[in-house]
Amino acid sequence: MKSIKVGLLGLGTVGAGTFHVLRRNQAEIMRRAGRGIEISMVSVRNLEKAQPIIDGACELVGDSWLVVNNPDIDIVVELIGGTELTKELVLQAIANGKHVVTANKALLAIHGNEIFKAAQDKGVIVAFEAAVAGGIPIIKALREGLTANRIEWIAGIINGTTNFILSEMRDKGLDFATVLKQAQELGYAEADPTFDIEGVDAAHKATIMAAIAFGIPMQFDKAHIEGISKLEAIDINYAEQLGYRIKLLGITKRTAKGIELRVHPTLIPSKRLIANVEGAMNAVLVQGDAVGASLYYGKGAGAEPTASSVIADLVDITRLATADPEHRVPHLAFQPQSINQEVILPM
Ligand code: NDP
Ligand code: HSE
Repeated sequence: MKSIKVGLLGLGTVGAGTFHVLRRNQAEIMRRAGRGIEISMVSVRNLEKAQPIIDGACELVGDSWLVVNNPDIDIVVELIGGTELTKELVLQAIANGKHVVTANKALLAIHGNEIFKAAQDKGVIVAFEAAVAGGIPIIKALREGLTANRIEWIAGIINGTTNFILSEMRDKGLDFATVLKQAQELGYAEADPTFDIEGVDAAHKATIMAAIAFGIPMQFDKAHIEGISKLEAIDINYAEQLGYRIKLLGITKRTAKGIELRVHPTLIPSKRLIANVEGAMNAVLVQGDAVGASLYYGKGAGAEPTASSVIADLVDITRLATADPEHRVPHLAFQPQSINQEVILPM
């Protein structure tokens, strides 16, 4: 069977990671997917910077529309970031009948309802494992591993940059600005790091998890969001002396009145597992009625951990695209349920 053709939009931290991991583990990935997965076209803004990475392995262009409108491309992987251009590119790719993989949580939290509807209508798949908690397969866990459960709540450290900042401030006594700069150099931070430090990125991710866990539409605009920018070393040290750690948590919870969706710094007793998640690691705690509590832990940001999730989606789509479209799983479980689907503000 001929290889499935992938068009990659963006070759930054995650794009380059995806390119490298796909090449390095090509044979194994092909065996698992049942056919080859070939990146045949890449778009960037700065061709000169990208050329040494691509090294002639595929076509490199400076215009992403050439990728989404290329009839030979089966799957478009969006790794540019931002919500305006990417919304147009993704909708065009869908209109052209292409499957889409994206790591862009902002795009899905804000425009996901429209994007998933378009994909459903067109019969294509939009996959987004990398959009939440980097390398942790939390989307798969919520949709598949925990599918028998009535999810009660999810609470997680779902932003690597802020967890890295809080850990380094506590352990090394470094100041906020110095550690943020390190997180940017390590490729953890968003292009606009205020998304990380003000809790917006975590709220994007919590919005996506709430949609999957509770079968509700994306309602990012109703999330309560508080970041870590007002925290000082003295807060972290006092918490420590009292036997607590401060963590930025993304929380979504089923209540009688509706779904809570919130992000804020939280005091957690130091002995708890989640209090000991350090650096750019993420951890997501899920409470299901059958399974009880289960914890998912791993690298929440960075090139190859995120690439691991992007490629998992590519393998899934390759398998599904080869199967009968009638038997594909739906994009999101938006079926009405016996709960109030409105997101409410926490008390
Ligand atoms: P980077 O800023 O490192 O890379 C962005 C890439 O997109 C660059 O190659 C850039 O090209 C390219 N690009 C920007 N604008 C355009 C355009 N108009 N046309 C074509 N290419 C363009 O971002 P990341 O790799 O860090 O993030 C990508 C996405 O993944 C974001 O949505 C982010 O939120 C998400 N994500 C990031 C994670 C991480 O750890 N970094 C983890 C999980 C998700 P050029 O360099 O030439 O300007
Ligand atoms: N900026 C994000 C973080 C990248 O620090 O968690 C991973 O989504």
